[in-house]
Amino acid sequence: MAQTEEFLSGSEAETLAWAAAFAARLRAGDTVALSGDLGAGKTVVSRGVALGLGFAGDVHSPSYALVHEYAGARLPLFHMDLYRLKEGADWEEIGLDHYLGQGGVCLVEWPERLPAEQAFAYRIRIGTVTETRRHIQVTIGRTQA
Ligand SMILES: Nc1ncnc2c1ncn2[C@@H]1O[C@H](COP(=O)(O)OP(=O)(O)O)[C@@H](O)[C@H]1O
Ligand SMILES: [Mg+2]
Repeated sequence: MAQTEEFLSGSEAETLAWAAAFAARLRAGDTVALSGDLGAGKTVVSRGVALGLGFAGDVHSPSYALVHEYAGARLPLFHMDLYRLKEGADWEEIGLDHYLGQGGVCLVEWPERLPAEQAFAYRIRIGTVTETRRHIQVTIGRTQA
């Protein structure tokens, strides 16, 4: 059974702090799906995870590059944004296995672009409640996409 946790964030700073704390749980080879509408805060969560892993530099949405690698933290972090990916592309095509083989953590924005059977170690769903409030739901375990 997948386990679910909830967090209500009242600001970007709270989301950053929550994500930085969440990062402490991540282990080499973990995959994290980040779902939510445009502007929900997927990239804010990614920035918090990077901070939590000890990466101090800038984290932007990698929409144009598909993947950005952040090195020099506790674990290598691969931040992907599949928004522009064509439907039906798969894990192998994107090279995710290659990244995971390097012992890193993969954060994936727009995991909906991947085939349905793709499994993730964590699924984070961000819902926009008001302009500043977010409902964050984390499902733990290798659940189906
Ligand atoms: N509680 C909150 N948590 C996260 N972001 C928030 C929150 N309140 C407002 N925001 C704003 O929402 C936007 C989220 O942007 P971003 O992380 O780029 O979204 P996404 O990557 O999901 O498209 C930012 O402008 C951020 O300042
Ligand atoms: Mg983004």
